[in-house]
This record gives sequence, C-alpha cells and structure tokens, in this order.
Amino acid sequence: MFDSLRSVVQLKPFERDRATRRLSSAANVDDYRALAKRRLPAGVFDYIDGAAEDESAMARNASRFSDRTLTPRVLRDVSEVDASTSILGTPAPMPLIVAPTGFPRIAHPEGELATARSAARHEIPFSLSTMGTRSIEEVAEVCAGRKWFQVYVWRDRELTKDMLARCKDNGFEALYITVDTAVLGRRERDVRRGMSLPPKLGLDTFIEGALRPGWTLNFLRNDPIVFSNVAVSTARLGDGTEDGSSAVSLADYINSQFDPQLSWDDVAWIRSQWDGPVILKGIQSVADAKIAASEGIDAVALSNHGGRQLDSAPAIIDLVAPVADAVGGQIEIYCDGGVRRGSDVVKAVALGADACMIGRPHLYALAAGGEAGVDHMLDFFQAGVEQTMALCGINNIAAITSDLIAET
Ligand code: GLV
Repeated sequence: MFDSLRSVVQLKPFERDRATRRLSSAANVDDYRALAKRRLPAGVFDYIDGAAEDESAMARNASRFSDRTLTPRVLRDVSEVDASTSILGTPAPMPLIVAPTGFPRIAHPEGELATARSAARHEIPFSLSTMGTRSIEEVAEVCAGRKWFQVYVWRDRELTKDMLARCKDNGFEALYITVDTAVLGRRERDVRRGMSLPPKLGLDTFIEGALRPGWTLNFLRNDPIVFSNVAVSTARLGDGTEDGSSAVSLADYINSQFDPQLSWDDVAWIRSQWDGPVILKGIQSVADAKIAASEGIDAVALSNHGGRQLDSAPAIIDLVAPVADAVGGQIEIYCDGGVRRGSDVVKAVALGADACMIGRPHLYALAAGGEAGVDHMLDFFQAGVEQTMALCGINNIAAITSDLIAET
C-alpha cells in the first residue's frame, strides 16, 4: 500500500531556508503585503502601507488601473517575447524602475543594500532616497548596476549640494527632484500610532515587538537606523542637521528641514549643479510636464507619492496619455502609484509611459523575504510583463501601442 501511495504522492523536499519557504507560497504583490503585515510591527507596516487622509488617492491609483482592459489580438506568433526597452538611453530587460522610498531598513535590516543588489542583478535602475537608511557610499559599494538618487531640497542648500557631489563621486547616474512634498501629507495611520522614525521601542510598542520577535531582534541587533545620507553629509559639513539618531515624527522633520519655497528657480539651480539626467518626481498635470520639458528636464515621474501627499490627487494612470500627448518623445515619462502587476506595466506603456516605478511592492517584498523577496518580486514583474504581452499577441515593447487599451 505504501508503495502505491508513494507512486502517486510526490513528497516535496523540505526547504531549509525560511525566507524561500515563506516566498514559495507568494503568488503576487498582495501576498508579499500579507507576509509583510505578519512580520512587521503594526506601526511600521502602517507607515509603509498607509497613505494620506482617507487614502482615496491610493485606492484610485489601483482602481483606475483595473478599470482599463486590454484588447488581445490572437493567432500571432508569440513564441519569442522580448520585454526589453531603453531607459535614459541604456537597455533594460523590462520597463521597470525601483522607486526611491524612505526608511527601507524598517522593513528589513539590510534595507537598500538588498534591493540595490537585486535590482542590479535584474539590470534595472535602483533609486536611493534622501531619506534612505543606507548611504550613497554603502549602496555604491555593493551595487555596480544602475543607481539613481532622489533629492529633496533642504532649507540648507549646502546639504543638497554635498549629496550631489557624493552621488557624482559614487557613480550615480541620474537624479530625481521630488516636487510634491512642499509639506508632508497627513498620514492618519501614523498620527494615530504616534509613529516616529526610526521607530521607538517604548512601552506602547513592547507588546507589538513581542508579537514580532524576528523583527524586534533584528532591530535591536543591527546598527541603529538613521537617515544615513543626511548623517554622512552633516558629518562632512560639520553642520548640526538632525540625522535621525533621535526619533522624530516624519511630519515635524520634513516640515522643518525641506524648503517649502521650492520653485522652478531651484530646479534650474539643481540642473546647474548636476551634469547627468534630471527627473522631476511628483508631476501631476500636463501644464507642469510641459514646463519640465521646456526647462530641459530629461524625464518626468508622474506620481502622487503613492497617495501619501494630496489625497484628492488624480489617479496616476489617468495622467499618462495626456502627458504623453503633450511631451512624449521630447522627454521620458515614468509613472508610479498602483503598479502591482506586469499587466499594469503593459497598460502604462500602451498609454505612453516609458517605464513604471514600484515603491510599496519592493518594501513589502523586502519585509517578506529580504533580498530573496526582492528577487522573487522582480521575477514576478518580468514574467508578468512577458506573459501579458504574449496573451495580447505582442512580442516586443515597441508594438505596445494605445490601440491595445480599451477605455472604460
Ligand atoms: C517618504 O517619502 C514618505 O512618503 O514617507
């Protein structure tokens, strides 16, 4: 009897690596999110997962992607599908960019190092945030691939200038200027939880920490989480800007440090300080995309910061076609906000985007499985783009055109 049972039941070998074991049951970004939710203290998860006010911009970002359908053509030879493209003039195997995000080390102790290594392996650009938790130098040391840096403009211009100099010295290719954060949006989950960065392990978080022992041990065992990019520049400049060594609320920090007077003159100033490509991140109108093109900007990243800033902001996918009509071909167009599958990437490209960016998905994947989690997620996107193209009867990126989209 056991012999016949053995002949029909193939026992799966036991996977020893815990991250790989966890990831083997993940099929999509929602699954990485569910794993992240299980592993992170609630305040940390909510900081990553949450958005501004009623979170309606975040919901709209996603729903406007799913409102759009694709019109597949059949009986076309799709035995070879090639999702490769060019981003800022350099080949990439798919139209995808890892977006800059604040504080990746609260998701996993390796933080940006894990994500940058994985992005380099997948040959797509990795973006480091000013509010990152690994420095420009640390990322450059582990990542020979494409590295972009996102700058906020500090009240203290010397700090911005120093970060640009460090990017140049460390082989960073392109620079984003984030333009949607004159003040921080009201993230009400963080308000309720009194979330600070780095997170405090006080009495109120003690029970949470006990329920998430893996995260808590990592947090206590590893070097302290600070705003590493700020820390290096303040040490170089000998200035006293707070670098996150003491816990602060993000709203207080950003509202006190970033310059709300930021204007097109400052964009021109950064342009004059940086001889590589400049991307404006947070453009949300055709009018501003046109100014960006006329100011000699290389690309716009259409973004409402994942719904974390203005809650009444337009859904990002709704902006792609009008912006492409206005400036497509003159400058590159990226978009983020609600990109959760390869089919979303194909929809954005069909509407005129050159590439999509992913923020939360990589933080969920990082929390779910560290570097293996990010690898899993980037493979999921690559396979998803290729599978969608095959199902639509398309075998190269240039053939993804607007007639693929059925408007609702
Ligand atoms: C940082 O950029 C954030 O959105 O929290």
